Amino acid sequence: MPRNVSACAKVINIKRGSLTVIMTADLILGKEISQQIYGELDARIDRLKKNGITPGLAVVLVGDDPASQTYVRMKGKMCQELGMHSDTIIMPETTTQEELLARVSELNENPDIHGFLIQLPLPKHIDEQAVINSIDPSKDVDCFHPFNVGRMLIGEPEFLPATPAGVQQLLIRSGVKTDGKHVVVVGRSNIVGKPMAAMMVQKAIGANSTVTVVHSRTEDIGSITRQADILIVAIGKAGFITPGMVKEGAVVIDVGTNHIPDPAAKKGTRLVGDVDENVKEKASAMTPVPGGVGPMTICMLMSNTVHAAERAYERKCSQ
Ligand SMILES: NC(=O)c1ccc[n+]([C@@H]2O[C@H](COP(=O)([O-])OP(=O)(O)OC[C@H]3O[C@@H](n4cnc5c(N)ncnc54)[C@H](OP(=O)(O)O)[C@@H]3O)[C@@H](O)[C@H]2O)c1
Repeated sequence: MPRNVSACAKVINIKRGSLTVIMTADLILGKEISQQIYGELDARIDRLKKNGITPGLAVVLVGDDPASQTYVRMKGKMCQELGMHSDTIIMPETTTQEELLARVSELNENPDIHGFLIQLPLPKHIDEQAVINSIDPSKDVDCFHPFNVGRMLIGEPEFLPATPAGVQQLLIRSGVKTDGKHVVVVGRSNIVGKPMAAMMVQKAIGANSTVTVVHSRTEDIGSITRQADILIVAIGKAGFITPGMVKEGAVVIDVGTNHIPDPAAKKGTRLVGDVDENVKEKASAMTPVPGGVGPMTICMLMSNTVHAAERAYERKCSQ
């Protein structure tokens, strides 16, 4: 049984006098695994502080998208909890590309900021890729700069993108064997699907897998997902993966976050993943939504920031 997962729940169902045992998946809990990683980060932050360095993260938010505001708040709060320095820079929706590039340039030069990110999506009039390209790669803790994407692809990463890195840590720390396994990634975005596939194919711990990527143009997706030993789903479609699309005993990682109407909920909506909850009767292990991949994403961002601060310290020492 994988390590670091919640105790296996077996549902015993008495059906017309006969006893049917339904296995339900072990839960891979990002909430718990992230706490373990935060414990390790505490020690690294203490070491840096003893050497006069407080890791610093800045987040730039352009506009007033409520979901982005929430993410930005969560990042600032986590920095505070870890005793890190954090800056939140809020710019109006009308910010021009030149103004944003000027901000990026300031952050590139600011010695108190070891890592920063521009919260996406940006308003339509701003060229997102041009802004990403202007970030100093040594401070690119989101790992979106082409330099860092390239390093990841050739197996010499400086940073790993937060969400795929979080998924990989969930697999490693739950004791899921990836070596030689068939990983199917559903979705091919630059943020999740593509880097996830690139990471799982590396000759590395928590990887060494045979990888297939499927997307909206793939024919008969189910025939491919049913071959997966490890199925990683990131498409943003509630309950898209049904039990019939999953192999018995597969490990299923649900990256999706979708708000669906729920009259019983206080807010009138609830958060669900891309995987139908009945998949738990087919999978051997599965991440819940919420409480699975979500907490790992912010945790890996913090980890990247601490790494950036350590590298800055090493550079200072070698001058
Ligand atoms: N928990 C977290 O921390 C976290 C972090 C990031 C993202 N997410 C969530 O993960 C989900 C995906 O995010 P994203 O940024 O990768 O989304 P995205 O940029 O919208 O990309 C979605 C991907 O899914 C594919 N897709 C859409 N409909 C499909 C279908 N019916 N069949 C097969 N493939 C389909 C798209 O294919 P095409 O390329 O062919 O269009 C695309 O590659 C979202 O729910 C997002 O909120 C969660």
